[in-house]
Order: sequence, then structure tokens, then C-alpha cells
Amino acid sequence: MKILTIAGTRPQLVKVAPVSRALRKHVTEVLVNTGQHYDYNMAGVFFEELNIPKPDYDLGIGSGTHGKQTGDMLAKIEEVIFQEKPDAMLVYGDTNSTLAGALAASKLHIPLIHIEAGLRSYNRKMPEEINRVLTDHVSTLLFAPTETAVTNLNKEGIVQNIINVGDVMYDAVLYNTTIAEKKYDLKQYGLREKEYVLATIHRAENTDSKETLTAILKAFTKLDETVLLPLHPRTKNKLSEYGLTELLNNANNLQVMEPVSYLEMLFLEKHAKAIVTDSGGVQKEAYFSKVPCLTLRPETEWVETIEVGCNRLVNPLTEDLTKIIQEFNPTDYSKQLYGDGHASEKIAQEIVKYFG
Ligand code: UD1
Ligand code: UDP
Repeated sequence: MKILTIAGTRPQLVKVAPVSRALRKHVTEVLVNTGQHYDYNMAGVFFEELNIPKPDYDLGIGSGTHGKQTGDMLAKIEEVIFQEKPDAMLVYGDTNSTLAGALAASKLHIPLIHIEAGLRSYNRKMPEEINRVLTDHVSTLLFAPTETAVTNLNKEGIVQNIINVGDVMYDAVLYNTTIAEKKYDLKQYGLREKEYVLATIHRAENTDSKETLTAILKAFTKLDETVLLPLHPRTKNKLSEYGLTELLNNANNLQVMEPVSYLEMLFLEKHAKAIVTDSGGVQKEAYFSKVPCLTLRPETEWVETIEVGCNRLVNPLTEDLTKIIQEFNPTDYSKQLYGDGHASEKIAQEIVKYFG
């Protein structure tokens, strides 16, 4: 059996690593890298560090408007399908690379497998929400990470071939945490255990508003702790566009960094006092690391982390983010919210079972 996998952004590479490892024991996988993310620290380092197989196709799409980026991918993925004639296609998550893969597969009647199916923010202004809804509705086999995701699919009338296998990002964390711990040391950063805050910001709703971005940075400057900010390129561009670079440079406790590698990120997450983020993946990793998480969004797809009290949504424009960071102190991380760490193997086995 031949599976054509489509990936191309940082979070997808983190997910591809454990799944490819499991999948390739059973089937032939052809890997297509769309190139949606292309800087070394957004893509290349993940291939190297996580031993992701070399892509069979590098589409080199890069950045663009949603229509141009998705459209270019669609055309190029179609060419690969003609060439490879796969038995099924595999897509991850909710990015434009996901949607392009899903559309290409469904138009050519190639069965589609969606990993991380059923997540919903119920906010149709998010491009990711459109991408994931459309992808789920053209998928043949849907791997949901949680029961909430299964219920979300059922509510939309999708009731067949849904399997809750847990979250492949948990597999990745379990596999890599010890490796990360051996590789890094807090002394390298001049930091002490639980005495710094780690923050990532990249969602359009935060980066595309000067007012919001300013409010977030100002809240950070009022903290006593160092705040590490590995900056997504989208955010970096916006900071200079808004003239906020000076605010950053003048703040003694803000340590701006280039995006860090996955292992470095796991290390920094584990030892932080708190994590402030608008990332999907980072919210879950905060839970896995047992670190309090503050999410700068009006809603989250990862509702379980909120329900157990370990994650809190914060509006930086109307709430006192500084005070919330200082005071938020969840303690119960005992529940296994995202499966047992064997999601990738289950996915491989279910694929073999389904396609025979
Ligand atoms: C994308 C996903 C988002 C995901 C995020 C993970 C979509 C619609 N969004 O958002 O769901 O959470 O990836 O990080 O697919 N850029 C670079 N170098 C790069 C990549 C991007 O400079 O290697 C800059 C470009 O200016 C680009 C901007 O970042 O225009 C945004 O990149 P893009 O891939 O369009 O979306 P993300 O914000 O990364
Ligand atoms: N990540 C990383 N380096 C960074 C920031 C994030 O390795 O500087 C990892 C993070 O640990 C997680 C994944 O990237 O595994 C999340 O990706 P991102 O936040 O870009 O996207 P999202 O999950 O929001 O779609």
C-alpha cells in the first residue's frame, strides 16, 4: 500500500515524525513537503533533529495570500498524485497545506486520512477553522485526538470511520523529552528553574493588531521574571511594521530569540514558571510539562486543558495579563487528556486494518 503524506509547517513536522516512524513499518510512504514554512528554524531543523525522512517532493510553495498559497499547493499536489498514484493520502491538522492536500485528494477520489480530526474553535474567522471543517468533511478515515473531537464530528453528521487514538503530539513529547533534557542546561541561558516565563505569539488575531501586540508586550515588561520570546517570523515582521522593536529593546526582562528547535522548545517549556501562548501545540505541551498555561485567545480547540483548570484564556486588552501570570497556579495535572502516548502506532494499525 502506498500513502502520500502532505506536510509543510512547523507543527506538522512535529506530528509527521512519530507517525512516519510507525507508518513505515507497515506501508510505503511518499512524503510531500509543501514548503509553506521554509526558514531553516521553521522547517529544516525539524527534519534534522526529529529524523524525519527526506521528502520525496519539495514543492517550495512558500508564503503568500491564502488563495495563492493554497491554490499553488493544490496544483502541485495534483501533479504528484498523477505521478505517484497513491492508494490513500494523509494530512495533518488545519493549515493551508492540510486543505490543499484534502482538496487535491477528494477531487481525484483518493481516500483521505485526517490526523487531528474533529477539532473546532467554532470561530469561522480563523482560517484554520475553515481548513479543518472542510478537510473533515472530505475525509475517509478520521483520527480524532479526544472524545470532544469525536462529538464535534458527530454534530456535523460525520459518524463513520472516526477513531479516537489520542494525540500524536503526546507521542512526540514522550519520545523527545529525555533527549531534550540531556542536550540543554538552564545555565546556558543564565536562567533558573521556574524563574522565567516562556511566550509564543503568532495567531493573526494577535499579530495583526498593533493595539493587542502592544498590550501583550507591555504586560510582559511589568513582570519581575525574564520572558523568553522565540519569535515566529510573522510576529517579527509585524513588530517592525508597528515600530515596536524599540519597546522590545528597551525592556530589560524581554529576551527575544529566533524560533527555537523542537528539542530546545520542549526543554524551555518544562522548566518555565508559566507559558503564555496562542499556539495550539504549545497549550498541550504546557499540560504535558505540568506548567501553567495562559492562552491569548477568545477560545481554544483544546478545551480539556481549560476544563481541568491548567489553562486559562486571557484577553490582553481587557484583562490584567501581568497579574494573571503572577497568580495563576493550577496543581492537578493527573488526568491523561490526550491518550496514552501510542497514538501513532494505533494510527498505523488502523490504516492497515482499513485499507487491508
Ligand atoms: C501557519 C498556519 C497556522 C499554524 C502556523 C504554525 C495557515 C493558514 N496557518 O500560520 O495554523 O498555527 O502556521 O506556525 O496555514 N514566514 C517566514 N518564514 C517561514 C514561514 C513564514 O518568514 O518559514 C512569514 C512570512 O512572512 C509569512 C508569514 O510568516 O507570510 C506567515 O506564514 P504562513 O505560513 O502563511 O502562516 P503562519 O502564520 O505561519
Ligand atoms: N515550537 C518550536 N519552536 C518554537 C515555537 C514552537 O519548536 O520556537 C514547536 C512547539 O513546541 C510545538 C509546535 O512548534 O511542538 C507548535 O507549532 P506552532 O505554535 O507554530 O503552531 P500551532 O500548534 O499553533 O499550529
